[in-house]
Formats: sequence, C-alpha cells, structure tokens
Amino acid sequence: MPFAVRPARADELAHAEELVARSINELTVRHGFGPIATSRAPHFQAFCLRDDPRGVWVAEDDGEIAGFALSWVCEHLWFLAELFVAPGRQGQGVGNALIERTLQHASDAGTTEKALITFAFNVVSQGLYVRHGMLPRVPIHLCSAERESLAGRALGPAPLRTTPIRAADADLQTLRRIDMAALGVSREQHHRYLLDAPGMEGVFFEDAGERIGYAYIASAGHVGPLAVMRSDAMPAAFTTALGMAAAGEGRQVSAFVPGPSDALPIAAGLGMRFTLPMVLMSQKDFGDWACYLPRNPGFM
Ligand SMILES: CC(C)(COP(=O)(O)OP(=O)(O)OC[C@H]1O[C@@H](n2cnc3c(N)ncnc32)[C@H](O)[C@@H]1OP(=O)(O)O)[C@@H](O)C(=O)NCCC(=O)NCCS
Repeated sequence: MPFAVRPARADELAHAEELVARSINELTVRHGFGPIATSRAPHFQAFCLRDDPRGVWVAEDDGEIAGFALSWVCEHLWFLAELFVAPGRQGQGVGNALIERTLQHASDAGTTEKALITFAFNVVSQGLYVRHGMLPRVPIHLCSAERESLAGRALGPAPLRTTPIRAADADLQTLRRIDMAALGVSREQHHRYLLDAPGMEGVFFEDAGERIGYAYIASAGHVGPLAVMRSDAMPAAFTTALGMAAAGEGRQVSAFVPGPSDALPIAAGLGMRFTLPMVLMSQKDFGDWACYLPRNPGFM
C-alpha cells in the first residue's frame, strides 16, 4: 500500500506513542526480552515539536499512522530520538522514507554530528543507520535492581555533597560547562525541560566546593541523565545518585550505563541486572561516554 510522509501534529502524538510502544514490544518479545514498553503521555515529544517542528514526522497510510520519527537538535548535534514503524508495515520502505525527512532536519539546522541510541539486538535498525552514515560505537546497558535490595546493600554515606539545580542563569551556565566537558555540546533547552518535569530532582555534585557534575533522579527511581567533568569523578557521582534513588519510593532503581563508564562495574557489583542492551551509533566519535549516562534512548 502507498503511504505519505508528513509533519506530525500535536494532537496525534499520543497516538504515535501508542504505535511506538507496540513496535518496541513486538521487537523485544521477538528477541526474548518480553514486553518492556507502556504507552506514556508524550510530554517530551510535545516539547520537541514546540521547540523545533522540523524534526517530527508521521507516515500515514489510509488514515492510519504507519510510522513515526522524531529528531532534536542541540547546537551542532542532530539526534534521532525515535524511529518506529508499525509491526505489520515494517520492511516496506516506511523507515527509510521517515529517516530521509529527519535527516533533512539535520542539514536544514546545519548540524555537523549525527547520533542515536538503538537496540543492540536489532540488525534492521542498525543496518538502516549504517547506510545513512552512522556506525555502532558505544554499548549501553539498562541496569535495574529492586529498590529495597539496592537499599540493603552497603552503599555507605554519599561520597559527594549535592545541591539542587535551579533554572537560574548561573546554574544554566554551570550545566553548560559540564555538558561541554562530557558531550561537547550544550543542552540548555533540555535542562529547562527536565527542571520543569514533575517528580524530577536535579542536583549538582560538589567536591571541595566545586561543582563537578550533575544528575537527575526521577521519583520512580530512574537515574539520568548524569554527567561529570572528569571520568575519575564517575564512581562517586554514580554512587551518590544511586543512594538518592535507593532512598526514594520507586519499586526499581535503574540507569542507562555506557560500556566505557566506571559506573558499569559499580552497577554490576551492587547486584543490578543488565536488562536491555542498547548501542550508541554516530557519524563520528563524539562525547566522552566515561563521563555521561543518558536518561533514555530518546532524550540521550
Ligand atoms: C527499524 C525500523 C524503523 C525500520 O523501518 P522499516 O520500515 O522496517 O525499514 P525499511 O523497509 O524502510 O528499510 C529496511 C532497511 O533496513 C536494512 N536492513 C534490513 N535488514 C537488515 C539486515 N539483516 N542487515 C543489515 N541491514 C538490514 C536495509 O538497509 C533495509 O533497506 P533495503 O530493504 O532498502 O535494503 C522498523 O523496522 C522498526 O520500527 N523496528 C522496530 C523498532 C526499532 O527498532 N526502531 C528503531 C529504534 S531506534
């Protein structure tokens, strides 16, 4: 059946996110990981659409959404946050057509780097991205543990002092400095989004009075994004953030931890399980993945 690709509208984002959840679950069940996604309110998608509508596209077929793509841009970085095709419509060129449109966003915005995070076990998505110039570079594990079991482990006193992040100029400047050190790009609009998100606690890590990193901890127990200025600060920052999540009220504590990060052996040592293998793909080497934990594959 022919399909048409067009810009997405705000009133269809919830429906698009249902397709995303369906497409993820079909994939993860097929690969033995079970269903992992539930359809959530499209807050970040709506934010991205308001921020820069050039990155949000739907493929439509006979009045039905057959596929959805969303990319965002921060300075010179284009990031593909979502590319999903309905299970019955895969392998028929829909993904290719959507990625072409989102790549137009990258060139219209004048970006010089392209990246995304996809499932390490999906050969189709990786093949598609390699064809578009992005190579698999960094393994990332979703690590999870029951909060009570983690709280029972000897996390000890927090190694670093924390102070709350405020949406004030001085704090946004500090966030910029940390992001430049970890990622080489500033993500001010995304910090404003997180600082406004209900149930989200953002903190700076301090060492000898200096702000050396930051983390966001969701009330549901998820840690990330987390960034540090230098990789040797990662163990203390990650342990501090885990301690905060373990003291919360979520059932689980979780984080997306890149392979090069010293946070990974800490997570494993504390009994956290690797529940979903992902991979960062990018055009060139970018970011220091010993210094940064993404929030999730779409937010990065
Ligand atoms: C990944 C996904 C978006 C691709 O969309 P699609 O409509 O199925 O893809 P298309 O039919 O446009 O293109 C498929 C391309 O994948 C590549 N591909 C497929 N199988 C491949 C394999 N085994 N090895 C290498 N490349 C492969 C080819 O480039 C192929 O294009 P071609 O048929 O012209 O050669 C879709 O399959 C999907 O939603 N999958 C589940 C969710 C997911 O993983 N999304 C990505 C999240 S980042």
